[in-house]
Amino acid sequence: MQKIEHIGIAVNSLEQGEALYESLLGVKPYKREEVLSEKVTTSFFRQGPNKIELLAPIGDDGPISKYLAKKGPGMHHIAYAVTDILAEMERLKSEGFHLLNEQPKRGADNKYVCFVHPKTAGGVLVELCQEIPD
Ligand code: CO
Repeated sequence: MQKIEHIGIAVNSLEQGEALYESLLGVKPYKREEVLSEKVTTSFFRQGPNKIELLAPIGDDGPISKYLAKKGPGMHHIAYAVTDILAEMERLKSEGFHLLNEQPKRGADNKYVCFVHPKTAGGVLVELCQEIPD
């Protein structure tokens, strides 16, 4: 793992979430992106070296929608940047972590991603992400 790549925050509505984070951080989002496979719309804020990803549900049967129904808006995941996602997935499996996907998936912001079940990661949903080379 190299560093924290971003922190994911679940919001009920992207418009309201963006307005809140614009006032909080004093910057505008630099990108909006839908990830249809996850039924989510994302919005990204950059502040210095750090990145915040807002996640709003599309429809009412995706993972973010279910999360919001159960826990309400708030901290959703911590994403770590990795250089070799397959090697990192293997390493985590051998350490006993439960991965939520067996193969890396295409995530937002040009990344391959894999999620680690919060039950095996101290209650925190962990995302691995690797930049997709051009
Ligand atoms: Co993320």
